[in-house]
Amino acid sequence: MLVQTLIERKRDGGALEAGEWQSLLSRYLRGEVPDYQMSALLMAILWRGLDDGELTALTEAMLESGSRLDWPGFGVPRVDKHSTGGVGDKVSLVLAPLVASCGVAVPMMSGRGLGHTGGTTDKLESIAGFRTDLTLDEVRAQVREIGVAMFGQSDAIAPADARLYALRDVTGTVPSVPLIAASILSKKRAEGLDGLVLDVKTGSGAFMPDLDSAQTLARTMVRLGEAGGCRTTALITAMDRPLGRAIGNSLELEEALQALTGEGPTDLRELTGRLAVEMLLLAKVADTEQEAQLEVARALASGRALDKFRQLIEAQGGNPGVVDDPGSLPQATEVELFEASEDGVIGAVDPRPLGRAVVEMGGGRRQLGDAIDHSVGFVVTARPGMEVSAGQPVASVFARDPAGIEAGMQALRASIRYGPADPPLPLIVGRVTSADLRHR
Ligand code: URA
Repeated sequence: MLVQTLIERKRDGGALEAGEWQSLLSRYLRGEVPDYQMSALLMAILWRGLDDGELTALTEAMLESGSRLDWPGFGVPRVDKHSTGGVGDKVSLVLAPLVASCGVAVPMMSGRGLGHTGGTTDKLESIAGFRTDLTLDEVRAQVREIGVAMFGQSDAIAPADARLYALRDVTGTVPSVPLIAASILSKKRAEGLDGLVLDVKTGSGAFMPDLDSAQTLARTMVRLGEAGGCRTTALITAMDRPLGRAIGNSLELEEALQALTGEGPTDLRELTGRLAVEMLLLAKVADTEQEAQLEVARALASGRALDKFRQLIEAQGGNPGVVDDPGSLPQATEVELFEASEDGVIGAVDPRPLGRAVVEMGGGRRQLGDAIDHSVGFVVTARPGMEVSAGQPVASVFARDPAGIEAGMQALRASIRYGPADPPLPLIVGRVTSADLRHR
């Protein structure tokens, strides 16, 4: 079948057969379908959508494009979490060791920074020596030994997703419910999980800003996960302001370390706690929410969760000394306070300008393969609803040169708005489980 025929059919609202998706992706990965044709098809999908059968077929084809992690004879339940991406979202750094310290195996595959959003693998690489390029054999061995591994996507797992994602990033085709769902579920299902918790972001800093699309995305992914034999729950959570206070790789790592000792910003602790409870429930190591909450609180208070993080860093070649001495993480050479420009109430702290500025300041990539500066970013104490006086410090900029400080200051001026605004979203906006799908 000619590729242009498939593009035309999708453009005109038709559907592709399962075999057509399979063959298209194989040919694309072999270099027989050029990026321009694939881009045209992606744009047609963005406008026309995919029906349920097509979405399943595309996800399967992406999953089958690589290997799967298998776990013969390993009886410990495996659960992971995936976020659709946000600003200041360092939850994975806390969650993976926390949940692993509660007796659940966490083979967590994460991405690099993307668009205005940061990536867990970049944050972990703030730790000197930390390797995220584990082979699948290394992941299996480490998870069996210490219950957790945090690694980047390689050609081994869902390579079709990696190729398509890079293409979507530069062709304006990221914000599509079926494309996001297929992307996330193909790689997560390849991990051989018993359970998956999805953190679907909504608000101005999310790829899917409006609540309706976030809800549709959450329901679509829960359906797709369950259909693939993986117990799946989604939380829809606020990304109309940054999560926590730190934005930028090593600053976020430091904040995650605080959360692992039960300290740090309340929103980060609350969201991590909720996601951890969902993971324990899906793993069936706790029967009730209360039981799961208690276990999570014990893991934090006893230092078990922090010890697990130390073990993880050591296992992946990093310097575990950062746990007790976060000052040994990369430090910015220039730091400047940002002050409120007027007396009044902060109406909004828009995450996007801040996320974009981190990239501009060198903390993210402009092009694939760029080296990044882990030290740069922000600590923002301004929150929507906070009363401030002119001259009051509400943020700090961390940069490597005066130009970076200026870029950061400009971003803060664009992000922080004063005066009446829509009330901020509740931290947890909604929850979707398989039971919710049955009730509709
Ligand atoms: N995260 C992913 O892994 N894929 C998407 O398409 C969007 C967010």
